[in-house]
Amino acid sequence: MLKMITSRASLLLLCFLFLSSLSWAASAHANEAFLSCLSSQLQNSTNISQVIYTPSNPSYLSVLNFSAQNFRFTTLDTPRPLVIITPLQESHIQITVNCCRKYDIEIRIRSGGHDYEGLSYVAQVPFAIIDLRNMSSVSVDVEEKTAWIQAGATLGQVYYYIANKSSTLAFPAGICPSVGVGGHFSGGGYGMLMRKFGLAADHIIDARLIDVNGRILNRKSMGKDLFWAIRGGGSASFGVISAWKVNLITVPETVTVFRINKTLEQNATTLVHQWQYIAPKIDENLFIRVFLSNVNSSIDGNKTIQASFTALFVGGVDDLLSLMQDNFSELGLVQENCIELTWIESVLNLFGGESVNNLLNREFPFKSNYKLKSDYVKVPISESVFEGIWEILYEEEINVVLMVLNPYGGVMSKISESKIPFPHRAGNLYHIEYQIVWAEEGTTASERHINWIRRLYKYMTPYVSMNPREAYINYRDLDIGVNNEGNTSYAQAGVWGTKYYKKNFNRLVKVKTLVDPSNFFRNEQSIPPKFLPWIQRIGDHSPMGKDIM
Ligand SMILES: Cc1cc2nc3c(=O)[nH]c(=O)nc-3n(C[C@H](O)[C@H](O)[C@H](O)COP(=O)(O)OP(=O)(O)OC[C@H]3O[C@@H](n4cnc5c(N)ncnc54)[C@H](O)[C@@H]3O)c2cc1C
Ligand SMILES: *[C@@H]1O[C@H](CO)[C@@H](O)[C@H](O)[C@H]1NC(C)=O
Ligand SMILES: *[C@@H]1O[C@H](CO)[C@@H](O)[C@H](O)[C@H]1NC(C)=O
Ligand SMILES: *[C@@H]1O[C@H](CO)[C@@H](O)[C@H](O)[C@H]1NC(C)=O
Ligand SMILES: *[C@@H]1O[C@H](CO)[C@@H](O)[C@H](O)[C@H]1NC(C)=O
Ligand SMILES: *[C@@H]1O[C@H](CO)[C@@H](O)[C@H](O)[C@H]1NC(C)=O
Ligand SMILES: *[C@@H]1O[C@H](CO)[C@@H](O)[C@H](O)[C@H]1NC(C)=O
Ligand SMILES: *[C@@H]1O[C@H](CO)[C@@H](O)[C@H](O)[C@H]1NC(C)=O
Ligand SMILES: *[C@@H]1O[C@H](CO)[C@@H](O)[C@H](O)[C@H]1NC(C)=O
Ligand SMILES: *[C@@H]1O[C@H](CO)[C@@H](O)[C@H](O)[C@H]1NC(C)=O
Ligand SMILES: *[C@@H]1O[C@H](CO)[C@@H](O)[C@H](O)[C@H]1NC(C)=O
Ligand SMILES: *[C@@H]1O[C@H](CO)[C@@H](O)[C@H](O)[C@H]1NC(C)=O
Repeated sequence: MLKMITSRASLLLLCFLFLSSLSWAASAHANEAFLSCLSSQLQNSTNISQVIYTPSNPSYLSVLNFSAQNFRFTTLDTPRPLVIITPLQESHIQITVNCCRKYDIEIRIRSGGHDYEGLSYVAQVPFAIIDLRNMSSVSVDVEEKTAWIQAGATLGQVYYYIANKSSTLAFPAGICPSVGVGGHFSGGGYGMLMRKFGLAADHIIDARLIDVNGRILNRKSMGKDLFWAIRGGGSASFGVISAWKVNLITVPETVTVFRINKTLEQNATTLVHQWQYIAPKIDENLFIRVFLSNVNSSIDGNKTIQASFTALFVGGVDDLLSLMQDNFSELGLVQENCIELTWIESVLNLFGGESVNNLLNREFPFKSNYKLKSDYVKVPISESVFEGIWEILYEEEINVVLMVLNPYGGVMSKISESKIPFPHRAGNLYHIEYQIVWAEEGTTASERHINWIRRLYKYMTPYVSMNPREAYINYRDLDIGVNNEGNTSYAQAGVWGTKYYKKNFNRLVKVKTLVDPSNFFRNEQSIPPKFLPWIQRIGDHSPMGKDIM
């Protein structure tokens, strides 16, 4: 009897081993077939050794690492892709989409790799990365005041090529030059020109996208709903953007920047409190953001809080001084605090770069471990609440934590919430970015720092937007909710979806249902199609089809 049981058990074990090795062999086989799909189709148009990187390729790790900007997702335990494709032309993207779809390999699309949660280069299932670093041309049309920008270009490249053609054309996007336009424009994209000109995504006038069927679509052929969705709705849910066309903006020959630091001993608390009433309402040519951090005081070396008021004014220093005298004299701005320069010089000044040529460098100089979160403020916060924030900032070492307050108002209040999927417009005083950056390796340090930022976020709950507690998609934060693996439910996605998109979430779901009903383009925070899971797998021939809109 006993013998029978053991033999049965071992039979079962054997069976299990056999099955699992069979499925392992089957998946290895499928992976080979997938890779041969890629190489056989790509070799006609290119030298595949410049486009396909598998783990056996000596350059695989350096290509993977090059724009993996967050060390939290470059550890030995981090899952790695079966292959990295670095397309040189759109047909390479089409082939990759077709092969991935045929062999059910998830795609992660990477332009600049700045996603705060690493979604552009990490997945928990077998996956391939399409890395657009070699599709980064920028062509500026000065007459038409437009530019075609390939998705793999960085903001630095965009700014460089605009300035190369004109000293009075500019573009209103983010501050850090290594950020990629593929992700940045897809999620909105704000910078120092936001109050006067709005977001990067507000200026997109055309786009080229490779869809789930491998077709190349432009504004006309993709239709107005999809063109709406990719301007702020996170394009990775809808396809692969290969290029954007944007309207450029006109700026004067001279703009002005200033930076004023105030510690608690210099009335920082009062000034930050006052800033909330002024910065969102002041002349839209002026953008004053505030960096809050804990520092060693330069006066007595004691720990204190510093508020660093950093501004760009679209105009000259005289107008700026009189404006500040009228509206924010408490800050004590004087001529010596101000620098007049060209717009491109202001880009360098505000980032801390040295030469305009540095803007072409794709490398992000501050790679580290980091975690960010974001909030929107609609009612001014009291001084005593700021004092509570200072206590929490003191819990961490200096040079580790930062809170950035970005004023809204100006043109941001005039654009409707549904014009593009980015919904955070009128009614917001400012946007808060919470940031913690650390160098120590390992999960203990990581947990400690992440717990700290979650504690700060919790403390802020009563003082920021609620129902929903809004968040900025480009400040990706998986804490606010994720899709189930392989089962993206509408209800579950709505939890984080309404925070990023408010009411626009529903329209994004409709567009997704129309253009990618099988949910091929998916990730932890992709827009779900509105089908039951078992229908999702059936594919494109869904009976609901076009009627849903
Ligand atoms: C140092 C730093 C500074 C920043 N400064 C600002 C700022 O000033 N203003 C601001 O608004 N934001 C800022 N951000 C946030 C930034 O806008 C987002 O992280 C943005 O998504 C980055 O785009 P990317 O192409 O570099 O990132 P990636 O990691 O490559 O992509 C981000 C997301 O977009 C998807 N994606 C990328 N390319 C494509 C494509 N071609 N087609 C479809 N989907 C694509 C990815 O799959 C991923 O989901 C900053 C981030 C960092 C790390
Ligand atoms: C690419 O080359 C393969 C093999 O050489 C051939 O079978 C295939 O038809 C070619 N594809 C195209 C699009 O030219
Ligand atoms: C293909 O690219 C590799 C790596 O860049 C290079 O060494 C090789 O000479 C190229 N082959 C051809 C045929 O151009
Ligand atoms: C990845 O890049 C970082 C910094 O850019 C570097 O320190 C590290 O050695 C690189 N790792 C690999 C495997 O290339
Ligand atoms: C692709 O981009 C990388 C990084 O910018 C560069 O080193 C490489 O030469 C490029 N390859 C091609 C084929 O353009
Ligand atoms: C524009 O770029 C060209 C080629 O790189 C360079 O020679 C020229 O000096 C640049 N002009 C300006 C105004 O930056
Ligand atoms: C303000 O503080 C920042 C960060 O501590 C520092 O880099 C900068 O030099 C200071 N600026 C001025 C004008 O004091
Ligand atoms: C701080 O503010 C108070 C009251 O507004 C004022 O009397 C004092 O001079 C200020 N201190 C500094 C250092 O500016
Ligand atoms: C700025 O000052 C002017 C002149 O006193 C005033 O009309 C305007 O309302 C003020 N704006 C703000 C935002 O306080
Ligand atoms: C800040 O002060 C602490 C305590 O005096 C000291 O240990 C630390 O090195 C200082 N940090 C910097 C960056 O000056
Ligand atoms: C700085 O800190 C020391 C030690 O805590 C304290 O004795 C001293 O009064 C502080 N200085 C100032 C100006 O607050
Ligand atoms: C999929 O998600 C829905 C809603 O969250 C849930 O009811 C269902 O059980 C899930 N199915 C699977 C297979 O996880």
